[in-house]
Amino acid sequence: MTIQWFPGHMAKARREVTEKLKLIDVVIELVDARVPLSSRNPMIDEIVTNKPRLILLNKADMADPALTEKWVSYFEGKQFKVLSIDSQSGRGVEKISAASKELASALLDKLKAKGMKPRAIRCLILGIPNVGKSTLINRLAKKKIAQTGDRPGITKKQQWIKVGKDMELLDTPGILWPKFEDQTIGFRLAVTGAIKDEILDFQDVAVFALRYLKDVYPERLKERYKLTDIPDDVIELFDEIGRKRGCLLSGGYIDYDKAAELILRELRSGKLGRLTFEQP
Ligand code: G4P
Repeated sequence: MTIQWFPGHMAKARREVTEKLKLIDVVIELVDARVPLSSRNPMIDEIVTNKPRLILLNKADMADPALTEKWVSYFEGKQFKVLSIDSQSGRGVEKISAASKELASALLDKLKAKGMKPRAIRCLILGIPNVGKSTLINRLAKKKIAQTGDRPGITKKQQWIKVGKDMELLDTPGILWPKFEDQTIGFRLAVTGAIKDEILDFQDVAVFALRYLKDVYPERLKERYKLTDIPDDVIELFDEIGRKRGCLLSGGYIDYDKAAELILRELRSGKLGRLTFEQP
């Protein structure tokens, strides 16, 4: 898997984020609750030093609730403050301001000791593309500020958005990339739709998803595709789903493109229930 723009863009993104970090008190790192580690930038701890950090497991509405709980404990165990949220519906978003204030308590105490007035906590939303940064900024701002689907490199004047009386948010998020070189990470991100389907082979992504579902969520597969048994061999499983759902070419051969498209579409739109593709 090679992505031509990776090294140059990565360095530029890192520079841009480092510049933004100078302005802020608390970093809000957004990850995808379905793939909480794969949707992080591997160098984040190196880039974000000496700033309190709030981790948000976003899109929790699509993730397996039991595993989201485990992920919350996992990050808490690493001494992070963490919340599970849905930026789209707004669930959990109201807790962000108080959590940020709590994280900045040392800073507020310092201001107070110097006889200065307490001020709003300045925050930056940081995360990989597609994790929901713009949706969250709009949700916190209670209006449309960020263009969803914004790409890095498009610079505009940065502004602060007031969130209640205790928090100010930079209106442009920090964007860092995940680690594409690792195949499994790439597949996890492709399954959840975080990276475009052109980057990885569609059928390979579907096979990856089926292999995981077969092991972790066999009942969901049985129910959705009316299977009595799950074949051991993943290709047989692929065939069976293709046959059941009429993804066929002339001569009765399985149309793998069509079957892969169907499986991924159904999975991403929640037809197989709430799924998490990575376990702590
Ligand atoms: P980004 O700025 O980090 O790149 O992400 P963005 O906000 O553009 O969100 C990427 C996609 O994820 C959007 O869907 C958005 O609606 C969706 N999304 C964001 N937060 C949540 C969430 O908490 N739950 C769910 N289920 N989805 C979320 P899209 O397909 O690009 O657009 P659309 O379907 O909203 O039109």
